[in-house]
Amino acid sequence: MVTETLKRAKAGEPLSIEDLVALLSITDSDELQALYDCAYFLKEQYVGKVAYFRGIIECSNLCMKDCYYCGIRKSNTNVERFLMDEEEIFKEALWAYEAEYGSCVIQSGERQDETYIAMIERVVGRIAEATKGELGITLSLGEQTEETYARWKKAGAHRYLLRIETTSPALYAKIHPADHSLGERKECLAALRRTGYQVGTGVMMGLPGQTMEDLANDILFLKEIDIDMVGMGPYIPHSDTPMGQEVPPYTDEQKKTALTLGLKMIAVTRIVLKDINIAAATALQALEYTGREQGLRCGANVIMPNVTETDYRPKYQLYDNKPCTDENSSMCRGCLSGRIKGIGETIGFNERGDAPHYEKRTKG
Ligand code: 5AD
Ligand code: FES
Repeated sequence: MVTETLKRAKAGEPLSIEDLVALLSITDSDELQALYDCAYFLKEQYVGKVAYFRGIIECSNLCMKDCYYCGIRKSNTNVERFLMDEEEIFKEALWAYEAEYGSCVIQSGERQDETYIAMIERVVGRIAEATKGELGITLSLGEQTEETYARWKKAGAHRYLLRIETTSPALYAKIHPADHSLGERKECLAALRRTGYQVGTGVMMGLPGQTMEDLANDILFLKEIDIDMVGMGPYIPHSDTPMGQEVPPYTDEQKKTALTLGLKMIAVTRIVLKDINIAAATALQALEYTGREQGLRCGANVIMPNVTETDYRPKYQLYDNKPCTDENSSMCRGCLSGRIKGIGETIGFNERGDAPHYEKRTKG
């Protein structure tokens, strides 16, 4: 049954939701390998065996949201809050440029006040100017008005990441306070698209109560809204959050299950969406040391090395055991370069690495 489904997948035939559920439910190790091989085959065919680096700058952990899973939620009083100044963000982006990363990502907790919006606008403008528009600038700054998205786009940003987290209304309501809305999140994704960004979204997998049907529907949602980029990762409990307090930290067995589910989602997403960019989330490496390169082997083609100043890193713990919090940016560059070479892939240095999907969608 799975063999037949994978044969159709490899031939590029459309798969039904039942097919997706069957693939996500695989447990047999030979079948798992066949799934990963199929995804890798399609990855090679559609996007090549090149991993693109996006240097991620985690510029502030101040957040007005209170998601029950996230370590930097506003009610967590055990976090020492920080906000980088414009100069620091600028310097880290230039570090990424000089390190030949094709792009940077500016990420923070969510803030919607004019002071913050204007600061981001200025720093994006400075980065774009200093790098002559060569360094790709991706923003991951949460829900904003369409006007704000447009201001940042005009300043020089061209990609935006906003995870939907889950498309199941019941599950969304379970993992967020009542004033966090799935409908508004979808509206933001639509606004980003209207504004002309390359849009990325994604989900967390392994959430309590989440089913394979939920995850299959999530993938179909990504297809339906015709997404260019996907960033998704396993849910990992954070001990200072309401959801993290309900369950003890993962055992080794649970880590393995969570990692496998993460890899299966990457593989099935590659099979269904084909020519998009898919990130191997850092959270994969929190579950197993080689998690990110395993992500590349299962269909991902983007990696986000941390370029945040080491001092700030421990303060940006979205989940427990986040990797690379003691390392500096050069160490991560060397480490990840070695890992990628180790699996026989090349790195797209100095290339923005836009998804072929985006190029087709916009250039016809
Ligand atoms: N485990 C895994 N991912 C998490 N995120 C937030 N908290 C966790 C967690 N406990 C993810 C969310 C968010 C992204 C920036 O980090 O999906 O969109
Ligand atoms: Fe940061 Fe390996 S990627 S140390």
